[in-house]
Amino acid sequence: MTEQIFITDVSPRDGLQNQAVAVSTDSKLRLIDKLVQAGVESVEATSFVSPSAVPQMADAAQLVPLAAARWPRLRTSVLVPNLKGLERAHAAGAREIAVVLCATETMNRKNVNMGLQQALDASEQTLVAAHELGIRTRAYVAVAFECPFEGITPLAEVLRLARRMHAAGAAEIVIADTIGAAAPAQVKERMNAIRDVVPLDRLAIHLHDTRGMGVANAWAALESGVRRFDASVGGIGGCPFAPGAAGNLATEDLVLMARQSGFSSGISLDGLLDAVAFAEEQLQRPLGGRSSAWLRRERAMRAPQMSADAANPA
Ligand code: COA
Ligand code: ZN
Repeated sequence: MTEQIFITDVSPRDGLQNQAVAVSTDSKLRLIDKLVQAGVESVEATSFVSPSAVPQMADAAQLVPLAAARWPRLRTSVLVPNLKGLERAHAAGAREIAVVLCATETMNRKNVNMGLQQALDASEQTLVAAHELGIRTRAYVAVAFECPFEGITPLAEVLRLARRMHAAGAAEIVIADTIGAAAPAQVKERMNAIRDVVPLDRLAIHLHDTRGMGVANAWAALESGVRRFDASVGGIGGCPFAPGAAGNLATEDLVLMARQSGFSSGISLDGLLDAVAFAEEQLQRPLGGRSSAWLRRERAMRAPQMSADAANPA
């Protein structure tokens, strides 16, 4: 029997937060619709952050109720940096939130204008308050491998923060390679250590593909027993406050690698290609993971009649 992996597609949040082109609420909903059509069961839809810090997410309060009404069974998480974000998310009807705690002092200051201790306090308070409201929680431990300002992040610090997020009740602890600096050896080493402080069924990994090691890193995490992954369709993504970060691990690359390795994600590659095509149209540039060119060719070869018709319209 094939083993399952569970993917949260973060393209509507991580993918769109950093785009130069303004994307309307309607287009965001249409992107989520493409993901749902592809079989995605969990998305990170938006963030309740300061609109002056991240203008692309200013429509969060409009988007969340529309998404909840349209896809009642879709897990729709939203990123919140503080209690004010949680209040806004709750008022909009959010049922799942993610707090974001960076593992270094400088990255917290750049991202949320708080020091590490203050960001840790804010994350714990937000998790506790969310539970009181019956809201499911995820907790990012960001820059968990390397920080663009402080270099290699000490593993002991990542373990300390992961333990704290687990103790504060986070249903999922997401270890994030925010700038895509890790290689498989580090992923294996760190995930093997972290699974001793966070149970594997609560542990997720969030990868970026800056150095072309996204898929290899996902494989290393799989070998460490991790089954929960963040990924972004078309590989769109990146943090506006972390210089040098390229896009996320592409959902289609992860789904393809998992499938060829005997894991099932429940997600259709053709459906993801449709989502990539839609995102390309919206962002007006070519997108797609490392496997996209091959996936597109393979799809065209499976449907020769259709592509012949398209190439030679009557
Ligand atoms: N949503 C919307 N507005 C918020 C907010 C939130 N979650 N938290 C604070 N604000 C507002 C305050 O009400 C205040 O508004 P006012 O000027 O009209 O009174 C203003 O923002 C400043 O508040 P303050 O608490 O001093 O915040 P700050 O300026 O120190 O910024 C954050 C802190 C966390 C709000 C801001 O850094 C932020 O939104 N960061 C987002 C980071 C992000 O999304 N990174 C990418 C994903 S990891
Ligand atoms: Zn990210």
